[in-house]
Amino acid sequence: MSASRLNAERGEPFEFEFCGKPVAAHRGETLAAALMSAGVEEFAVTANGEPRQPFCNMGTCFDCVVTVNGQRLVRSCLTDAEAGMCVEKHEAS
Ligand code: FES
Repeated sequence: MSASRLNAERGEPFEFEFCGKPVAAHRGETLAAALMSAGVEEFAVTANGEPRQPFCNMGTCFDCVVTVNGQRLVRSCLTDAEAGMCVEKHEAS
């Protein structure tokens, strides 16, 4: 299939917040996709201080967990990004 036949279109643009900074996203993207597209490499930190980022992108590894609007352990690969979300890195205690 040639590139001209793909005709992929992105949804409406909007912003949400990650660790206090604005992140651009498009309607229909998951949080994980939007954060990776923005260059975020650390979604969570383990109790040992090791950084985590999406691995499976299908909801099984839990390496993509973040805190969304105060709700902990949200899998960003299964969650649609929405305008105005307040997303924080997950830090294991
Ligand atoms: S990337 Fe594995 S659960 Fe989200």
